[in-house]
Amino acid sequence: MKTIPSSKVKFFSGEEVPLELHKVRIVQKLNLIPIEERLKAMTEGGCNTFLLTTKTVFLDMLTDSGTNAMSDNQVASMLRADDAYAGSQSYMRLEEAIQEVFNCKYFLPVHQGRAAENIISKVFIKPGDIVPMNYHFTTTKAHIELNGGTIFEIYTDEALKTKSSHPFKGNLNVSKLKELIKKYGPSKVAFIRLEASTNLIGGQPFSIANMREVKKVAQKHGIMIVLDASLIGENAYFIKEREAEFKNKSIKEILHTMIGLVDLTYFSSRKVSSTRGGGICTNNLEINNKMRDLVPLFEGFYTYGGMSIREVEAMAIGLFETLDETIISQSPNFIKFMVNTLDKLGVPVITPPGGLGVHIDAGQFLSHVPQTEYPAGALAAAFFLVSGVRGMERGTISSVRDANGKDVLADIELLRLAMPRRVFTLSQVKYAIDRLHWLYLNRNLVGGLKFYYEPPVLRFFGGKLEPTTPWPQKLVAKFRADFGDSL
Ligand code: F0G
Repeated sequence: MKTIPSSKVKFFSGEEVPLELHKVRIVQKLNLIPIEERLKAMTEGGCNTFLLTTKTVFLDMLTDSGTNAMSDNQVASMLRADDAYAGSQSYMRLEEAIQEVFNCKYFLPVHQGRAAENIISKVFIKPGDIVPMNYHFTTTKAHIELNGGTIFEIYTDEALKTKSSHPFKGNLNVSKLKELIKKYGPSKVAFIRLEASTNLIGGQPFSIANMREVKKVAQKHGIMIVLDASLIGENAYFIKEREAEFKNKSIKEILHTMIGLVDLTYFSSRKVSSTRGGGICTNNLEINNKMRDLVPLFEGFYTYGGMSIREVEAMAIGLFETLDETIISQSPNFIKFMVNTLDKLGVPVITPPGGLGVHIDAGQFLSHVPQTEYPAGALAAAFFLVSGVRGMERGTISSVRDANGKDVLADIELLRLAMPRRVFTLSQVKYAIDRLHWLYLNRNLVGGLKFYYEPPVLRFFGGKLEPTTPWPQKLVAKFRADFGDSL
């Protein structure tokens, strides 16, 4: 069957529509409750979208992690799961998928992405080491620091700009990499980490040209490169779309080129294969063997790694489906539609459109809310209130406090609205755009937040906050005035 991105389908009207190239055969009912009930839910949840139950959520854009729609073939494959503690045939099929899709000989299964980060950090990081990377992810940073390492984010000047037309904002800054190696010495660099479709700067990809430059420097100094491939499908799609050399290459050729430039690849299969699990793969037996013993210790036997065998089957199929442009382009094309529409409406949204989701610049959206009152958190709460759409704060609440108890302010305050693959329809996306536009026009009604319960680690998961003024009530009143009895 031909694999084509939906962007190849043109409309006579000229409108750019991300046409769905799949049909929906299993559906799940959603709840859209009145705004007054949402206010109650938000207050009980400490204005933290992680603490909402899905009974109160209409469109769940919290994350694409473990929430992508699976294909018919994935669901069907689960029935042939060969449940065995050791030597399962399902695992053999997964190994075949890893070889075919990632071109890697050695594979270690783990229960999710952060479990891979635990093993990699335990094995390769010594106290005092540094890890240069294009940008951090929360769990990655935590594991590296837990093992005594320090991360350095060496992104390009474009990376944190809201408005940009740079096709590869996820590129690693190679001259800064050289400076770091010179300053600390190559022996202190545990590895260089590249994150595909860089999550926390807006799902932004890097180019193969950039990977090649990084590789040259790494090779010169004998430093290992580690690729976080959780969102590699989308990154490969952007390379095909945006990097001239790869225009006529297949996704498989692009993936093999990317993975051929690194020493070690790991991933959360909650994202990459639309299942739940993770893995580490390499073609270097020595690297593999250093980590291998930790799999049965922390995860499970070598042939299931803490995953259900049903998920192992679905993961193998999901990985093969990563080669299908129709599948990997679906969420980038929906994201593009939402980003371009919001941009035209004047809503400050990160451009160019990336993978993963739509990222709203909460610092600009709520420029009157000081960063110490968490604009991204306030925007996430306000948007849930007016729409029932659940996004995720990716700003200072997701950061930490310094030794003096002061907030380490985030580089950018983002509200992330994830676009799980093939989950939402276009009218649902239009609803989210409509409510966000209304909120933008009424942004002056939104105020800040303050913590009343703050856990000592990863505070964004369980922390509870309250509004600094009664702004949510004012927002509800304005909503009623403008929308009447609409939900
Ligand atoms: N690396 C990246 C780039 C990720 O986005 C994630 C998870 C992980 C590693 C950790 O994987 O969740 O399977 O343990 N990202 C999710 C998100 C949680 O919402 O973006 P995990």
